[in-house]
Amino acid sequence: MKYNFAQRMSKTPRSFVREILKVTENPEIISFGGGLPNPQSFPVKAISNAVNQLLAENGSDALQYSTTEGYEPLREYIAQRYFSQGLNVTADEILITNGSQQCLDLVGKVFVDKDDKILLEKPTYLAAIQAFSLYEPEFKSVPLQKDGVDLDALEDILSNENIKLFYTVTSFQNPTGITYSKRKREKLAKLLKKYETVLIEDNPYGELRFMGDFIPPVKSCLNEGILFGSFSKIVSPGMRLGWIVAPAEVMDKLIIAKQASDLHSNYFTQRVVYQYLKTNPIDEHIQKIRNLYKNQRNLMIRMMEKYFPPEVEYTQPEGGMFLWVTLPPGTSSMELFEMAIEENVAFVPGQAFYADGSGENTLRLNFTNSDDKSIEEGIQRLGLAIEKLLSEK
Ligand SMILES: Cc1ncc(COP(=O)(O)O)c(C=O)c1O
Repeated sequence: MKYNFAQRMSKTPRSFVREILKVTENPEIISFGGGLPNPQSFPVKAISNAVNQLLAENGSDALQYSTTEGYEPLREYIAQRYFSQGLNVTADEILITNGSQQCLDLVGKVFVDKDDKILLEKPTYLAAIQAFSLYEPEFKSVPLQKDGVDLDALEDILSNENIKLFYTVTSFQNPTGITYSKRKREKLAKLLKKYETVLIEDNPYGELRFMGDFIPPVKSCLNEGILFGSFSKIVSPGMRLGWIVAPAEVMDKLIIAKQASDLHSNYFTQRVVYQYLKTNPIDEHIQKIRNLYKNQRNLMIRMMEKYFPPEVEYTQPEGGMFLWVTLPPGTSSMELFEMAIEENVAFVPGQAFYADGSGENTLRLNFTNSDDKSIEEGIQRLGLAIEKLLSEK
């Protein structure tokens, strides 16, 4: 049988990261490649209690089908939390999803026709490229600077191209760790309004700030924007719960798309997470995660200062899970990857995060899923591999 697949499948590759990281299944390899939260941060006991209590008190209800929008008290909880952070949204503007990854797919379904233009950050979240690709858009990219998008370049593109959506990860971006300054957020909101481009703000790391001051999402100064959130990095990624915040007109369409996809997100899990949030101090839990990640980030930076050649640059994120390394121009992080594997250490070559295939001399390091010894040893090994690469140039 010769299967005749839809054309869109030929334009969407398997996740490069998942493919490349297969080599890291070898237990001798220290991997800074994956993007996993630290499992020490998972509230196993508290979730176990929440499950037991839920089943004992509301078991048959929690095992039933439910509404597409999601469990109302959970949506109220999210709206309240936003309110305390200076963002005015109601529960009606929130749709519970299968992680924020599903938000990308739903936005693609609702907004993107073939050849529509989507503007991405350069670099951007790899799986956003994959999720949007299924809707066959044309990607445009705009460079990132230390404090967010290059606004001049952005205006240039918005004024010359008919851009439908601008996709951005405004806090502790995956892959770079970069966070937009308050000034850039405000200017970005103004520009998107001026050119009537839809803001798609993905914010799974916003709560993981371990230094510096809190800055509200761009959505707080752009009512018509669309914002994603997730429980993956503050409770558990395996539970696959996220949400999308959107104005009523957009919400209508998102609900239709979501109904067609999966009727609703896992209702039992929504009830478990709500039970957990109701009975546990989430702020204390998040603070523990921040402290853990801050120590891991600081250790990784100390080791990079010690073991990396001085011409190598890297970001110093104030939160999140990733660091971004830039090697001298003309070098290749794919070549470095081969050398690093020989030293038993892995990372993700940066090219994967560029829709236009550039970024050859960049790479992403995750600092949250390695113990101290692995960070020390792994960065030392990576430093050796970088020295070898540079000496062969
Ligand atoms: C920027 C960004 N968006 C979305 C996701 C997907 O997260 P989830 O579906 O677990 O909420 C991730 C996960 O790493 C991410 O980094």
